[in-house]
Amino acid sequence: MTYPYQIKTLAQYHEVYQKSIENPEAFWAEIAENFVWKKKWDSVLNWNFTEPKIEWFAGAQLNITENCIDRHLATRGEEAAIIWEPNNPEERTRIVTYNRLHKRVCQVAQMLTNLGVKKGDRVCIYMGMVPELAYAVLGCARIGAIHSVVFGGFSAQSIADRLEDAQAAFIITCDGAERGNKNIPLKSLIDDALIGNKLVKKVVVYTRTRTPVSMLKGRDVWWEDEMEHAEHQVEKNGVVSFPAEPMNAEDPLFILYTSGSTGKPKGVVHSIAGYMLWANYTFLNVFQYQKGMVHFCTADIGWITGHSYILYGPLSAGATSLMFEGIPTWPDAGRFWEIVDKHQVNILYTAPTAIRSLMGFGLDYVKNKDLSSLKVLGSVGEPINEEAWHWFSQNIGKGKCPIVDTWWQTETGGIMISNLAGVTPQKPAHATLPLPGVLPVLVDENGKELVGNGVSGNLCIKQAWPSVIRTTYGDHERCRTNYFTAYPNMYFTGDGCLRDEEGNYRITGRVDDVLNVSGHRIGTAEVENAINMHSGVVESAVVGYPHDIKGQGIYAYVIFEGSHHEESLTKQDILQTVSRIIGAIAKPDKIQFVTGLPKTRSGKIMRRILRKIAEGETANIGDTSTLLDPAVVDDIIKGAV
Ligand code: WT7
Repeated sequence: MTYPYQIKTLAQYHEVYQKSIENPEAFWAEIAENFVWKKKWDSVLNWNFTEPKIEWFAGAQLNITENCIDRHLATRGEEAAIIWEPNNPEERTRIVTYNRLHKRVCQVAQMLTNLGVKKGDRVCIYMGMVPELAYAVLGCARIGAIHSVVFGGFSAQSIADRLEDAQAAFIITCDGAERGNKNIPLKSLIDDALIGNKLVKKVVVYTRTRTPVSMLKGRDVWWEDEMEHAEHQVEKNGVVSFPAEPMNAEDPLFILYTSGSTGKPKGVVHSIAGYMLWANYTFLNVFQYQKGMVHFCTADIGWITGHSYILYGPLSAGATSLMFEGIPTWPDAGRFWEIVDKHQVNILYTAPTAIRSLMGFGLDYVKNKDLSSLKVLGSVGEPINEEAWHWFSQNIGKGKCPIVDTWWQTETGGIMISNLAGVTPQKPAHATLPLPGVLPVLVDENGKELVGNGVSGNLCIKQAWPSVIRTTYGDHERCRTNYFTAYPNMYFTGDGCLRDEEGNYRITGRVDDVLNVSGHRIGTAEVENAINMHSGVVESAVVGYPHDIKGQGIYAYVIFEGSHHEESLTKQDILQTVSRIIGAIAKPDKIQFVTGLPKTRSGKIMRRILRKIAEGETANIGDTSTLLDPAVVDDIIKGAV
């Protein structure tokens, strides 16, 4: 397969970019010709950002699995689609060829059909990073069911909330998941999540850890049994087939929950055709993937990065994607480098938090590993600091690999601003230039567009791109108010950004009450609600503070009822509450008990002050004159942890 739409020079980038902005319809129609359609489109693009309503390739029909699997079978059926590296390095690697992937996805499609799953039904997938997770996701897409993958680190309560919001009637899970030396009892968490749930009809359980589980008769079934049965149905005389459901271009492909500044996580909805084009186009152009390369994205498929750059991007390009079950520091901090060496990885796409953490273990873990196969490095999820950038470049890339700093979000579906590896210039800590089709603008707090270079403001996008969020599941109004009302006719990202003198973009971080902890997105309100579930807590306020490894840490100010003689025990208790309500990823790094919070006369908590104190700032707190009781500030400063 050749990729005619891969940009190869800086001049070509500028030319293509220009074309994509001047005539997006002609531009994307030409790209779309490279995919398999069951029916071509009537129109390329209809959009407005006021409702919002965005339609790409209206009238067209396709199935994304034909683009990710079937079309590769004739030319690369026996090549690896997925290389799976287990958590335990002693266990054997699994290589999934495109032929094998096709068979397994057909089986899952048949299995789901047997279980009563229909087109448009929501299927919740709660599994560890095993190849069966990929089969499950693609099996849903084959029959037109909407997958909603929930990260294996979320609590039973979080799963329950997501099941309810998505009105899901089907779940695919594992008995347990292995991550480092931990064993997460996934099925038992599902059981807890299902207490009181009246909608879920079937739970499919794949055996990974052999953890004992309880199976509810009539509801719970084993993956192995169902898949074996399905195998006989999809395979006749050695020929495997399960027809791919014809889907409308704008039918939803998946829901993925992500945190905002208010309320519970929202279900971001992406639709099929636009998302597919974007995942594919950005994968090929940003990483400059060439046939035969091994691409290793270290994310979990429970996040958007895994959806777009472990599954849909690479597979739609017929690439080889490495899927890793474990964590970077187990059995030791050399695990990533060992995997690169063992599988001769060419592209390594990871998060700044992982780089900073591994940096801290020193070069001993890098020393004896052969990293010469690496050609491209990538960073995603949070701003990468210059120190980490240089360490990554020197010690892992050996000074010869470009680093792509890719800015994007769950809502954008794929990479929006990034250099193209070896094609457009890189600049440490800068995401640099927009991808073709992306029209970024910076606005000041009054919504005035900031023109020219050397400016900073809030980052918005002014033109519809193929994989822009379509809605938040079940609540379109929430989508509108969250993203499309802050600045009329623009998508607001929630990020602050500056544009340097050369026009390079540098993302400075969230400007709303959303935290980025180790690349995980967490809403302060969500953490506060969880803390407040503790019976002794009267009120709490959560802010972020700079953290050397995590990027941001979570700092919680808590008003606790009565005295707490055993302060450390109370803190433990609160941490457990947060773990139980959201998951361990949302546990505060610091808890400070306070007697009052800095509030304005209208009762609004002044987070600006709390952020300063959490940052260790005590002298320049700023104006406190509008506070109801300015004295609380001194008390809080005295007790800062
Ligand atoms: C937020 C989105 C992108 C997929 C993984 C995270 C931050 C993301 C960068 C980057 C600076 C970045 C932003 C964004 N972010 N990439 N290269 N440089 N910041 O997706 O969970 O939806 O989080 O992550 O603040 O808004 P997400």
